[in-house]
Amino acid sequence: MSNNLLKGKRGIISGALDPNSIAWKIAEKAFEQGAVFTLTNAPIAMRMGEIKKLAEKTKAEIIPADATNMDDLSNLFTKSQEILGGKLDFVLHSIGMSTNIRKNIPYTELNYDFYTKALDVSAMSLHKMLNVAMKMDALNEWGSVVALSYIAAQRTYPFYNDMAESKAMLESIVRSFGYHYGKAKKVRVNSISQSPTKTTAGSGIKGFDDFFNFADSLSPLGNASAESCADYCITLFSDHTRMVTMQNLFHDGGYSTTGVSTEVMEKFSDK
Ligand SMILES: NC(=O)c1ccc[n+]([C@@H]2O[C@H](COP(=O)([O-])OP(=O)(O)OC[C@H]3O[C@@H](n4cnc5c(N)ncnc54)[C@H](O)[C@@H]3O)[C@@H](O)[C@H]2O)c1
Repeated sequence: MSNNLLKGKRGIISGALDPNSIAWKIAEKAFEQGAVFTLTNAPIAMRMGEIKKLAEKTKAEIIPADATNMDDLSNLFTKSQEILGGKLDFVLHSIGMSTNIRKNIPYTELNYDFYTKALDVSAMSLHKMLNVAMKMDALNEWGSVVALSYIAAQRTYPFYNDMAESKAMLESIVRSFGYHYGKAKKVRVNSISQSPTKTTAGSGIKGFDDFFNFADSLSPLGNASAESCADYCITLFSDHTRMVTMQNLFHDGGYSTTGVSTEVMEKFSDK
């Protein structure tokens, strides 16, 4: 269903790896809602080829960019404006990676090179994107930048490892850059704190399926799907949320404010 919420808007969508990716669903919905955009991902993700299907479906061009590399990002913002024919209105940051998690290294024994890399890829890359966009004056007034986060930024989830600090840093950049970009150009910066979602990044986390079920039974509405996350994201790109900025917005079926649910209690009942 389209209400043309993004008609006339131009943007950049990062992080679509395969059809399970949250960014994949966001690209599909943005296209449905009338937006034009470029797709980007790390050059290595291109080799897997799936993103080309999304590009065809959404009539988008793909611009490879390692989100930690300033030259790649400059090229991304320059080419996107050339291809789309003007300044941009929205940017999606949907990027996360932890080598410590991939290699099953426990939190108390983190490899610090991997730790630094995780912070760079998953958090500092948002700062780098915003820095490039601001210097180039690539975003229109009231433009909207959205990054994806997780509640481990606020609370401890032992299996989330060094991604917890990555998300805490990401959310802090949302506030700090959001202030400066808002003052300078009325550009908005927010993060969506999403429920556990079955994607490549999500499922890489040890015990993910058990935890997915736990979160689902704690949340009064159940876990939020990638598709509903995409719907929410579209509203943040649209003009209907113009005064929302510097926020971390929970999109989690009520999980973040639920203490306990009857379903979870029943599992501990001795009757
Ligand atoms: N899946 C979940 O449970 C969940 C929950 C909350 C938040 N998130 C966040 O959502 C975002 C998207 O993840 P997803 O779950 O859709 O998984 P995903 O694996 O589909 O997406 C992660 C993306 O990051 C890209 N990436 C990694 N390193 C990069 C680099 N150097 N430069 C550019 N791109 C790079 C990957 O290629 C991939 O496309 C991440 O920030 C993730 O932390 C996921």
